[in-house]
Amino acid sequence: MKDFSYYAPTQVVFGRGTEDQVSDLIRKYGGSKVLVHYGGGSAVRSGLLSRITAGLEAAGIAYVTLGGVVPNPRLSMVRRGIGLCREQGVDFLLAVGGGSVIDSCKAISMGVPYEGDVWDFYAGKAKPSEWLPVGCVLTLPASGSEMSDSSVITNDDGGIKKGFNTDGYRCRFAVMDPELTYTLPAWQTACGAVDIMMHTMERYFSKDDDMAVTDALAEGLLRTVLSVAPKVLAQPRSYVLRSQLMWAGSLSHNGLTGCGTTGDWATHKLEHELSGMFDVSHGAGLAALWGSWARYVRKENMSRFVRFAVNVMGVEQDFRSPEATAEAGICALEDFFRSLGMPVSIHELTGREITDAEIAEMADKCSGWGTMSVGSLMKLSRSDMENIYRMAR
Ligand code: NZQ
Ligand code: ZN
Repeated sequence: MKDFSYYAPTQVVFGRGTEDQVSDLIRKYGGSKVLVHYGGGSAVRSGLLSRITAGLEAAGIAYVTLGGVVPNPRLSMVRRGIGLCREQGVDFLLAVGGGSVIDSCKAISMGVPYEGDVWDFYAGKAKPSEWLPVGCVLTLPASGSEMSDSSVITNDDGGIKKGFNTDGYRCRFAVMDPELTYTLPAWQTACGAVDIMMHTMERYFSKDDDMAVTDALAEGLLRTVLSVAPKVLAQPRSYVLRSQLMWAGSLSHNGLTGCGTTGDWATHKLEHELSGMFDVSHGAGLAALWGSWARYVRKENMSRFVRFAVNVMGVEQDFRSPEATAEAGICALEDFFRSLGMPVSIHELTGREITDAEIAEMADKCSGWGTMSVGSLMKLSRSDMENIYRMAR
């Protein structure tokens, strides 16, 4: 069991109608002038945004709104938000949406008090020392950003997608009403289910083998998503089913399923290049890559892949061949992804064969032009990255 520090300070307010508590929560965390940040329109169409702004008005809390955050949120929008917050004297940020809106909010929160350009944090050139508080009303269980310490932003200049992690990025509160997720299209629900699973799997597949409590939590969470996600697609307005997925999304990325493990994160790093270059949904990109990554690295800890196959995917163990059991587990998860309508290759994801030049560019960006490796189960060099993109092609 590796040493660890577990810090999950976000107040979770979970249940039907909990968005009515937003004004009280903003006051509790010191907000008096709020930026309400949202996406391309789902929160407007559902009436959620107007319910929230009406609540702020009734509570006498001043606010400004900024909509238009796109999936794979852009640096240009973050810069707009920073300008608006400075001009309006905003002291609290409220994200109403999914991971993209929350991540955009988090970036704005760091950029407002910083004299330089906010991209400095993502480019590794600066560390933040102050930030504005952020709260969120979650409408899409997927990214786990509502409780995570990270924000992922795409620089419009060159399509470079980068994450930045700091405890300052933990939301003060996360309002989670499963009913707000009833309007999600099947595709986004499925992408979310993949992302939720992957946040735990990135922590589960490591060289470590001695964290029984964490493994039990991880395997239970993964089995729950396997069971619930297809049912949610069949019954999108089931409160009970939507609740399971929503809570799994937060627990999968608040650190709980990684206590005592090293964590790998290679599939995420490889995927960020895919969604940076092709503007695809993050969860679908993960589904397209994972099987190839797994086949490339499984020899590094075969028993872990066997355990996953048996305990999570319900594969019968072939005691003569760990390789066969591991492969059956990988195939079973790919079949599950397909059953949700997810791609299991880049070709299925983008609708065309990607070129050698595109693979080389993604490997360049992912490896910092050959200066960095990613992953811990197997440290992937630039050429390993190219090999995995080719296998996933
Ligand atoms: O923009 P609107 O109109 O709101 O539509 C959104 C968007 O088109 C729609 N949507 C959201 N809630 C809805 C809804 N449609 C109908 N009803 C609702 N209730 O869903 C679409 C996708 O939204 P987005 O926020 O982009 O999805 P997601 O939550 O999956 O977030 C993806 C982003 O999070 C990053 C990803 O890389 C990607 O940029 N991640 C952030 C992480 C973090 N901060 O910890 C970790 C993750 O690994 C991930 O990298
Ligand atoms: Zn993710």
